Amino acid sequence: MSLPIRIAPSLLSADFARLSEQIRLVEDAGADLLHVDVMDGHFVPNITIGPFVVRAIRDVARVPLDVHLMIDRPAFYAEAFAKAGAHWLTYHVECAEGGPETAETIRALGMRPGVSVKPDTPVGAIRDHLPLVDMVLVMSVEPGFGGQSFRAGVLPKLAALRDAGFAGELEIDGGIDEKTIGVCAAAGANVFVAGSAVYRTRDPAAAVRVLRASAEAKRVS
Ligand code: DX5
Ligand code: ZN
Repeated sequence: MSLPIRIAPSLLSADFARLSEQIRLVEDAGADLLHVDVMDGHFVPNITIGPFVVRAIRDVARVPLDVHLMIDRPAFYAEAFAKAGAHWLTYHVECAEGGPETAETIRALGMRPGVSVKPDTPVGAIRDHLPLVDMVLVMSVEPGFGGQSFRAGVLPKLAALRDAGFAGELEIDGGIDEKTIGVCAAAGANVFVAGSAVYRTRDPAAAVRVLRASAEAKRVS
């Protein structure tokens, strides 16, 4: 299993008044994806952005958009995100439309489906989704806000997914920094979301490069 390491800066921690500059900065530093956090104030207690802003991001981005839906109705909104230019579209198994058919809806719209589990949701909950998705996103913080501390207790889920035969992209999101990224790579993750560790630093470009080097050093071959 040798999927490439992919670094996905989370725009949630970027300066939204200077978004195109902030995007170009991490792209030039080698970011593979742009992680876009969509929150509806129902599934999580925070509200962020919708398809209209995703479209604006798409218009300036050079790398694919990795859209993380923290909303109750991902199937209902999937078409709007397809039209907005999402490449990856990830839904939560815990939401109101969190059944495996949501993966099929997303794929039928031409996007690559992912499914996500909150820190306390066991991987058994997504067993029926695994043949239908291209990505599993394991949350290492409670979804809703950037800047929280990494929960190492989720690490066994990464290995469990590989043991269950899941060979797709394995993404980890929440509290990823140059210290925590290594254990995640060693446990089998290959896609790493980082918000604060990129955008809340003095040099976001350098942060992207450091994250990549730290992941490469610990990756499973
Ligand atoms: C939280 C979001 C994350 C967030 C991560 O609900 O899913 O993508 O931006 O932020 P950090 O890297 O600061 O934990
Ligand atoms: Zn996210």
